[in-house]
Amino acid sequence: MLELSHTTKTHDESRQGEALDLIPTGNSTGRKLYIESYGCQMNFSDSEIVASILVDNGFETTRDYKEADVVFINTCSIRENAEVRVRNRLKEFEHAKAKNPGMIVGVLGCMAERLKSKFLEEEKLVDVVVGPDAYRDLPNLINKVDDGNKAVNVLLSREETYADISPVRLNSNGISAFISIMRGCDNMCSFCVVPFTRGRERSRDAESIVKEAEDLFNRGYKEVTLLGQNVDSYKYKIGKEEDASIINFAQLLEMVAKVSPELRVRFSTSHPKDITDEVLHTMASYENICNYIHLPVQSGNSRVLDLMNRTYDREWYMERVEAIRRILPTCSISTDVITGFCTETEEEHQETLSMMDFVQYDFAYMFAYSERPGTLAAKRYADDIPEEVKKRRLTEVVDKQREHSLLRLQNYVGKTQKVLIEGFSKRSDFDYCGRNDQNTMVVFPVDPRYKVGDYVQVLGESCTSATLKGRIVD
Ligand code: SAH
Ligand code: SF4
Ligand code: F3S
Repeated sequence: MLELSHTTKTHDESRQGEALDLIPTGNSTGRKLYIESYGCQMNFSDSEIVASILVDNGFETTRDYKEADVVFINTCSIRENAEVRVRNRLKEFEHAKAKNPGMIVGVLGCMAERLKSKFLEEEKLVDVVVGPDAYRDLPNLINKVDDGNKAVNVLLSREETYADISPVRLNSNGISAFISIMRGCDNMCSFCVVPFTRGRERSRDAESIVKEAEDLFNRGYKEVTLLGQNVDSYKYKIGKEEDASIINFAQLLEMVAKVSPELRVRFSTSHPKDITDEVLHTMASYENICNYIHLPVQSGNSRVLDLMNRTYDREWYMERVEAIRRILPTCSISTDVITGFCTETEEEHQETLSMMDFVQYDFAYMFAYSERPGTLAAKRYADDIPEEVKKRRLTEVVDKQREHSLLRLQNYVGKTQKVLIEGFSKRSDFDYCGRNDQNTMVVFPVDPRYKVGDYVQVLGESCTSATLKGRIVD
């Protein structure tokens, strides 16, 4: 899934405390909700649905967990250390709960789904455990806790897409927003816990997606990112029986792009087995669909890819990259890589490095393999690559990526590009930041003629491997 920042940051490093103080629209109960999210963008997006459900039920939100009546932690299970971080964070909540025994602590998301009621036995401070498809039940579950019980709902659904819930935008810059277009995953990559924590794949009503994009645009947003574990398998049936037609991802992309030429459209994640030329041609036809594709390779070796159950091989992946280069010559490509998967040899690892040389990724999220209980790989294969070998291979991959990121960014130096001003730079209030079409972060001095949310032409002047610096030109 799409990551919030750049090259070497891993998925489970992101954390977000709730950042807006929201007041309920209906009858206020005066109770305060704090919510914190880990993992992929999907989880961050779900937290916005959770906040929406609770604000509708009279909750206010707060940025300070110490003053909250309900503290939720929306968790990730993708790698072992993602879970370790959540456990550590729960320890910090213990102190707050000791001071305020009425505080309700809830675990949401993928770790809740994976561990179910075991969580209540393992972590005594937890009152409520809720899986990703059960958020509509939260007000009811909170009532149960109010009555002195512990509460669990980890039912997965084949239908739930929260299509009718208008998410409350947390931590938003008011310019970019994420829209979930599907949930779950049917792919069963052997290393991956997601199909178990998120359930079966289902696509959300296309019209509700377009409507959400229109609403955002009308509220001043300038960029939407369509989210799913495998967006290319989006499929939604509209109409009745004989008149029914299927909307695929390329068509959905076009529908969203047509909301306004001023609204940028991005998406993530593309699975190499499913990304079609039709999607690439749609991207080429609309200036506002950004030239950026996240195309996780995982490994550059066909035998390892087969063990991973990725259902493509090295040649297939290279052909898809060539199609992107042919149809979208300026498109940037990023990836995910796993090092030290079960039985991976040194030569096979070298093929991952040579794949990186072939593609020259703009950036990458890189991980050492972490065995997850219950996955196909955990059942079938020994986790037999020593930790230090996984780490050494990871370092080689990270070092190579740093070189490539720098090379790719150097391409933008001396060139002018369209940038959407997303806010002020983290380092200085005298600089704006925003991304170009290819998703590269660009930092440039504030020009009072332009405000956050405007598009500007920026001349690239210098770069590191993560950021391009430049200035606005007219
Ligand atoms: N649906 C996305 C991936 C979501 S998980 C896709 O198919 O591309 C994000 C990334 O985490 C994966 O691409 C993979 O690189 C990494 N990952 C998943 N399970 C992992 C594991 N058990 N160990 C290490 N990395 C893992
Ligand atoms: Fe996991 Fe594979 Fe689904 Fe991605 S496509 S979420 S890696 S099972
Ligand atoms: Fe996302 Fe982590 Fe779940 S990556 S889908 S939050 S396991």
